[in-house]
Amino acid sequence: MARAKRKVEPKETTEALLGEERVFRPLPEVVIEANVSPKEYQEAMEKGLRDPEGFWEEAAEELDWFKKWDKVLDESDAPFYKWFVGAKCNIVYNAVDRHIKTHRKNKVAIIWQGEPPEQKKKLTYYELYRRVNKFANVLKSLGLKKGDRVAIYMPNLLETAIAMLGCAKLGVIHTVVYAGFSAMALRERVNDAKAKVIVTADGLYRNGKIINLKETVDEAMIECPTVEHVIVVQRTGQPIDMSDGRYLWWHDLMEGVSDECETEVLDSEHPLYILYTSGTTGKPKGILHVHGGYMVGIHRTLKWVFDLKETDIYWCAADVGWVTGHSYIVYGPLICGGTTVMYEGHPLYPKPDRMWQIIDKFGINILYTAPTTIRMLMRFGAELPRRHSLKTLRLLGTVGEPINPEAWVWYYENVGRERCPIMDTWWQTETGMFMITPLPVALLKPGSATKPFPGIHADVVDKEGKPVPAGKGGFLVVKHPWPSMLRTLWGDPERYKKQYWEVIPGVYTTGDVARRDEDGYFWIQGRADDVMNIAGHRVGTAEVESAFVAHKAVAEAACIGVPDPVKGEVAKVFVILKKGYEPSDALDKELRQHVRHELGPIVIIKSIEFVDSLPKTRSGKIMRRVLKAREMGIDPGDLTTLAD
Ligand code: PRX
Repeated sequence: MARAKRKVEPKETTEALLGEERVFRPLPEVVIEANVSPKEYQEAMEKGLRDPEGFWEEAAEELDWFKKWDKVLDESDAPFYKWFVGAKCNIVYNAVDRHIKTHRKNKVAIIWQGEPPEQKKKLTYYELYRRVNKFANVLKSLGLKKGDRVAIYMPNLLETAIAMLGCAKLGVIHTVVYAGFSAMALRERVNDAKAKVIVTADGLYRNGKIINLKETVDEAMIECPTVEHVIVVQRTGQPIDMSDGRYLWWHDLMEGVSDECETEVLDSEHPLYILYTSGTTGKPKGILHVHGGYMVGIHRTLKWVFDLKETDIYWCAADVGWVTGHSYIVYGPLICGGTTVMYEGHPLYPKPDRMWQIIDKFGINILYTAPTTIRMLMRFGAELPRRHSLKTLRLLGTVGEPINPEAWVWYYENVGRERCPIMDTWWQTETGMFMITPLPVALLKPGSATKPFPGIHADVVDKEGKPVPAGKGGFLVVKHPWPSMLRTLWGDPERYKKQYWEVIPGVYTTGDVARRDEDGYFWIQGRADDVMNIAGHRVGTAEVESAFVAHKAVAEAACIGVPDPVKGEVAKVFVILKKGYEPSDALDKELRQHVRHELGPIVIIKSIEFVDSLPKTRSGKIMRRVLKAREMGIDPGDLTTLAD
């Protein structure tokens, strides 16, 4: 069993942790059993610096290709980089097809746990293979071809993974839309992608309630001209109206369809999926990932960072609607031939010890979750995890937002029982894979994502791109392309170039601020732009503002992120009302409901403040920085551009 142990004279108070003085190092068992030894890690770091292409080429050799590449990296059309040029592959061949030719054929690929505790299903690789084939044949029968788009609006169900893989098998591009998004958000994404099909479910279970998804799809469908069919999975079984001829039941379509389907031989740069994420404008960005480089990146990072072994049961407690679910619930673990757990429901249902109960129920070895979830669970006290054995856990992980040392240590002590190292993985929808992260053999500092993964050239720089000295804050950038990077923004290559590669010329701008310490450890401090991180979900302040001004009473709105002890960050909104409207509790409530309807429940609004004016530049841009400084009681900095 791998273990990690505290070293270097720990100070016992939380205040001391904020001084970042604790260092935790792995126990010998971790080191002995790790997929990558300390020496190999060191060598990989050196090779990754010296010869990143060589490093990634070795990683690519571990996967199956229909035809190998002529060139590892093509930089001729930078920043539209291409990886494994000339190669032919399909991610589904690696995630599913190849396993059924091995001893993994009858191994459990996915364990699905429904929110109702008695509902669970297990799918072997062979069963998964056949269902993916069937679903791909269903898509074919509906006329879908390579390059077409399918939107998947579903919670964590087996059918969600099957739908994603079924699309990819044919070279159809999927776009998964988080099932908590509103009808408006779904419509916007479906229309931007020009999807021909939506795959959804009748409903989903969330915190003991049934949420009707089909109704939301109906509302979106009022204006989705490209959609020819909606495939509906029967999950909750409540009565729904299927009279519209475009709506088809999943189970009807799957019946009698052949379970054999040829996997499409694709160019390694063929698009795999579009995943929309918030930016600094109201319009979400369609991040585009491709088959070849993406599979190489997620396979290597998962195998090395989470030390995934044949015998492991691995649980990433994210939602498939986010990139974490794409890379590390579905594609990554399956490519590794692992057993991946998919949980449908709420972490506190029916009781706040649900997660610990699931871990013991299946004997989970690796748990990957978000700081928000950890902080939420901390509130119920350490007795809850302590009441469960959790003895199978070997490794822990976090993602989505900076983890405060207090939560890190709580997780380490009460969940990992001081034997499981915590992998704090920094990455983004755009990066596709872990970028700054420890390996199990690394020295850990609570609150630091440690160092860039081998082959990743990350740096902290100033506005001109000059590296800043240790201890100073700056912009987090990546100086060399990596295989699972986004290739472009769907339908907007100019924005891709401008937003990521021209802010600081020649390097990839992450949008985060960070600092590096004397040991070269990275400490992520949050976003540098007008994007909030609410419970690990990116929400643009511009999106919230445009939802507010869409309400008849609102003349102007300005949104800022403010710190929250559990969610990390929540929104505060300043609102100027139109003539004829007066501030009131009723209006406050109505605005909240309106925004929830427009954007979905992920946008958590702490408060709405009705104001008469907003700080603006002379050119009329709202200075959110000034609002934020006032809110936090700090110096607003340079005010010379302020109009009033
Ligand atoms: O600000 C960083 C934060 O989440 C952003 C990426 O969000 P998204 O594309 O939705 O992907 C989330 C899951 C990969 C980053 O720009 N972030 C993510 N992981 C961490 C983090 N901040 C600090 N520490 C992390 N481990």
